Amino acid sequence: MTTKGQTILITGGTDGIGLALAQRLGEDNRLLIIGRSKEKLTQYFWHEKKVRTYVADLSSMEEVKTVSNTILSDIDGIDLLIHNASCVSSARIVTNDGFEMQLAVNYLAPVLLTAKLLPLLKRKQGTILFINSRAHKRVKFDISDLQLAQDYSLSKSYNRSKLYLVMYAKRLSELLVTEGVKVQTVHPGLVNTKMGEKQCNIFHRTAWIVLKHLGKSPKCAANNIVRIIGSYEFRETSGCFFGPNVQETPASVVRDHEAKHNLWVLTEKTLQTSIL
Ligand SMILES: NC(=O)c1ccc[n+]([C@@H]2O[C@H](COP(=O)([O-])OP(=O)(O)OC[C@H]3O[C@@H](n4cnc5c(N)ncnc54)[C@H](OP(=O)(O)O)[C@@H]3O)[C@@H](O)[C@H]2O)c1
Repeated sequence: MTTKGQTILITGGTDGIGLALAQRLGEDNRLLIIGRSKEKLTQYFWHEKKVRTYVADLSSMEEVKTVSNTILSDIDGIDLLIHNASCVSSARIVTNDGFEMQLAVNYLAPVLLTAKLLPLLKRKQGTILFINSRAHKRVKFDISDLQLAQDYSLSKSYNRSKLYLVMYAKRLSELLVTEGVKVQTVHPGLVNTKMGEKQCNIFHRTAWIVLKHLGKSPKCAANNIVRIIGSYEFRETSGCFFGPNVQETPASVVRDHEAKHNLWVLTEKTLQTSIL
């Protein structure tokens, strides 16, 4: 797809890669930005005429539904939906809905938001892009304890939430083939952002601060993602996993139809709604 003159929705457009993507894509497109902080949305976008901002805490499924309804009444189509918002947390936090925080923000929210906004994507034969991570390959597929009530760790929850999302994206791409809606996933590489500092203990924060300096800048990551979005490979395929440069092979379980089906069923049960 060309990234000019499009209607693009970005979640988590108030920091890191999402903010850099908004700044880059805002040059030539009409943007909708979801952020949890009204102050940050105002600070970055108050002067932008082609940008609409929406405040929603994506850890709350009620807020996901409310913001979706507002967007449905505001616009008539979406060309590109970029699911970028994500969090990590050292401690196991339980949201008001009773979900483990990383599961809620990194997996359940994008699934629910996608389901609610599908009519807008179908109208434009749009593309759904998940910002994911190669970290999804560092964990075994397991849905026996979705909330990680027994054995929580930051990395286990983060890696799992990203694995679930790659599997869901693949299944969604298969189900949307006849609708003309494409679904893609991209890993941006290591990027120098504050992600590992926000809800983290001193140990995780220190480790992230050391590691992140090996990464590229958010601006560079955003430019890479925009280049991938504009590439022939991206435009002509669906259900693929892209690395920072080229298409890559995701975890082998992404090809396991039964595993994807079981995850889909459990996700609908958890969200208590149909997700297509
Ligand atoms: N950084 C890396 O090396 C790296 C590597 C692989 C993949 N990724 C992926 O890249 C994406 C962006 O990460 P990043 O590094 O740019 O992180 P970041 O700088 O922390 O940005 C995350 C964005 O998500 C928002 N967010 C977090 N929780 C939210 C919630 N409950 N409701 C609404 N918005 C929420 C944040 O809002 P605030 O501004 O209010 O905090 C921020 O705008 C994520 O999907 C991440 O998994 C990053």
